[in-house]
Amino acid sequence: MNAHSIQMDVVWVLVGTIDDIPRQGSRRVQKGQTRIAVFRTADDRIFAIEDRCPHKNGPLSEGIVHDACVTCPLHNWVISLETGEAQGADYGRSATFPVRVEGRSIYLDLMPTTAAC
Ligand code: FES
Repeated sequence: MNAHSIQMDVVWVLVGTIDDIPRQGSRRVQKGQTRIAVFRTADDRIFAIEDRCPHKNGPLSEGIVHDACVTCPLHNWVISLETGEAQGADYGRSATFPVRVEGRSIYLDLMPTTAAC
């Protein structure tokens, strides 16, 4: 094996089903000190991002979901559920986590895809 073929093993963790999350709603998953918000969009896409706004740590799980974004309940920053990045003129990013949906079951890889900044 050379340095280019090293692959980390992914551990998928079952966190519930699509039916556990209302459309345009979320559920929280705790991983140690990290809270992860699992969102379901109006068209049944599932995303997982850290439940902490990049502005001042607002609880994104309590925000309003629209398209593939969530509006933070504290000061209305809009965060992309796909990238975790603040939209528009705002700057910052919440960590995102890989999601796998099998049937109606939702699995997360608890290693973030993108780190917060
Ligand atoms: S804490 Fe989210 S917009 Fe301020």
